[in-house]
Amino acid sequence: MKQRKLVVISAGLSQPSSTRLLADQLSAAGGRAAAQLGVHLDVQVVELRDLAHDITDNMLTGYAKPALKQAQEAVTAADALITVTPVFSASYSGLFKSFFDVLDKDALVDKPVLLAATAGTARHSLVLEHALRPLFSYLRAAIIPTSVFAASDDWGANSVEGPLRGRIDRAAAELAREVERREPAVVTDPFALTANFEDMLKNL
Ligand SMILES: Cc1cc2nc3c(=O)[nH]c(=O)nc-3n(C[C@H](O)[C@H](O)[C@H](O)COP(=O)(O)O)c2cc1C
Repeated sequence: MKQRKLVVISAGLSQPSSTRLLADQLSAAGGRAAAQLGVHLDVQVVELRDLAHDITDNMLTGYAKPALKQAQEAVTAADALITVTPVFSASYSGLFKSFFDVLDKDALVDKPVLLAATAGTARHSLVLEHALRPLFSYLRAAIIPTSVFAASDDWGANSVEGPLRGRIDRAAAELAREVERREPAVVTDPFALTANFEDMLKNL
């Protein structure tokens, strides 16, 4: 079985969080869909709530503290991402955006990213199209065609059935197919030597 790394980013603030609930549903569905294609997904969840202070510090100082750095490295090394934000004031939350503001601008290039959002009202479902999609398009991610939106009315006693279930499974299947057909992500070391010592000595 192929092994691939999936990082799930959840920007919910409540505890318990409907954003995290959607993130968990998506990663479970992604794991099932990938397994059917012969891929085992190693899942790491990044809760932005726990990194909120580090993200602000990074914006102010330009340096990431260890927990944030670890999350940034996990994202960079991931074969795919699932990102879920609550809708705040008709857009992604500030915390969600700030995490990507302090991430290396090339970290998501050609990386499959599944977009999802939770909100109080279905009236704001186009946030996925007018806010999230342009952001990840700018970051040059390989955006999964189906994105997932869950309003309060979509949750019944913490379970997802009906249209939301179908959308989760469709998005997860698209993500799994994208991961399966790609080579594993390669992280390039910016300090790696690009020439060998023999060649360098010849030029002395
Ligand atoms: C500051 C704030 C602004 C919000 N703005 C909107 C909004 O514009 N549209 C909407 O549908 N829901 C809005 N909501 C509701 C949240 O999107 C919704 O409750 C979300 O699922 C919360 O996620 P969580 O449970 O993971 O924290 C807002 C909530 C807060 C706290």
